[in-house]
Amino acid sequence: MTEGSSAIKPGVTGDIVTLKDHRSGKSFDFPVVDGSVGPSVVDVRKFYGDTGYFTYDPGYTSTGSCESKITYIDGDEGVLLYRGYPIEELAENSSFLEVCQLLLEGELPSAERKVAFETHITYHTMLHEQLQYFYRGFRRDAHPMAVMVGVAGALSAFYHDSTDIYDEKQRIIASHRLIAKMPTIAAWAYKYSTGQPFIYPRNDLSYAANFLHMTFATPCEEYDIHRSVARAMDRIFILHADHEQNASTSTVRLAGSSGANPFACIAAGIASLWGPAHGGANEAVLTMLGEIGTKDRVPEFVKRAKDKDDSFRLMGFGHRVYKNYDPRAAVLRQSCHEVLEELGVQHEPLLDLAMELERIALEDDYFVKRKLFPNVDFYSGIILRAMGFPTSMFTVLFAVARTVGWIAQWKEMIEDPQQKIGRPRQLYTGHVKRPYVPVEKRG
Ligand code: SDX
Repeated sequence: MTEGSSAIKPGVTGDIVTLKDHRSGKSFDFPVVDGSVGPSVVDVRKFYGDTGYFTYDPGYTSTGSCESKITYIDGDEGVLLYRGYPIEELAENSSFLEVCQLLLEGELPSAERKVAFETHITYHTMLHEQLQYFYRGFRRDAHPMAVMVGVAGALSAFYHDSTDIYDEKQRIIASHRLIAKMPTIAAWAYKYSTGQPFIYPRNDLSYAANFLHMTFATPCEEYDIHRSVARAMDRIFILHADHEQNASTSTVRLAGSSGANPFACIAAGIASLWGPAHGGANEAVLTMLGEIGTKDRVPEFVKRAKDKDDSFRLMGFGHRVYKNYDPRAAVLRQSCHEVLEELGVQHEPLLDLAMELERIALEDDYFVKRKLFPNVDFYSGIILRAMGFPTSMFTVLFAVARTVGWIAQWKEMIEDPQQKIGRPRQLYTGHVKRPYVPVEKRG
């Protein structure tokens, strides 16, 4: 797809799709609505009222849940656009905070607005001092994602002046607070697990550098931040910032559709992201590579991944939307080499193993036929491990980055005049009505 080549005027086209019901002999027309690019939709909002049928789409493989202007994915072409800008160009030329402003506001900021936004975020990175006591309720070996869910949800008990979702100013304040505070919450979750003291945010550091400093510095000595590591961290945040209506974003939208406050909705998104089929895959990839161990065992695990009787899947492979190489994985694959070289890591066996696994899988008919390619999670863990993060922190970093995507999508939903509370129906296959049986008469 090139600029504007397939952009069309979005909206109701006047075209229709007709459903012929052979049971009743009736036909029903449903309007076709075009987007600016990508598949058009059939508007089925009146489907049940007109036909008496529900549509049925477990996993929403063919269902559009909303209208959005934020992120576009072309899974066949491996294209990812944030507000129309290709992810590769943003990863190369932009910064995470500039991408945050783009996702939230819809346009790349002027120099003046960029400085104002960055300053605003910087001055919201501290947590209310009472929040640190929430950490003390957890065991030191609690998974940091459990801590993230708990502490992020607790924010709604502290920032009452930004929980009125119908007040635009409060929506913006809540959005900025969440973007600003998630790195602090994440870094403190790591510190708590190590028994080291919390490190407070510093206003003289960039967003990524500040996060690295809060994570790895100690009060005992100056912590020098590798410029290249901070740049790599910032780029990883950009790549994970948003991704259309994925499971965790859909969770945030559904929670928000009931009017729940933004902090509680983000906690719900963190919970959904944790799953190994979603954001938890980056941690699962490292576990998988550790289990494979050596290149000569790769064929054995590829065989297991293809075996329907074996629950093992190649973590970091496959995607609901991408049926081509995930463009984020391509950038991360390249970054792997750059970061390892800059860190002076001469030889990273895990990277060699991952590349061998990718080579063998992409030559195997099972993966080729199903269009299973490496996704964003396949290479990210290797970089994060080289940067010093334990695998238990990988999904936490994903959550820090995705917070801006979640909150931008949440804000878009709240401001969408068409939005209603999300309330799917079902295909019921349980018992029909039957009388109560007293216990003495049961079998
Ligand atoms: C993320 O949605 C998003 O945008 C998510 C994300 C984001 O930025 O928010 O991109 C982040 O979650 C990336 C995905 C990370 N998850 C993993 O890497 C886990 C491993 N991948 C799979 O679990 C799977 O590919 C999913 C969950 C990602 C997608 O699953 P789908 O779309 O439901 O596909 P499916 O399970 O129906 O699979 C289709 C076929 C099946 O075989 P058949 O029944 O056709 O014979 O492909 C097979 C599957 O068994 N298959 C795999 C496989 N992934 C799919 N077989 C082996 N290994 C795999 N990884």
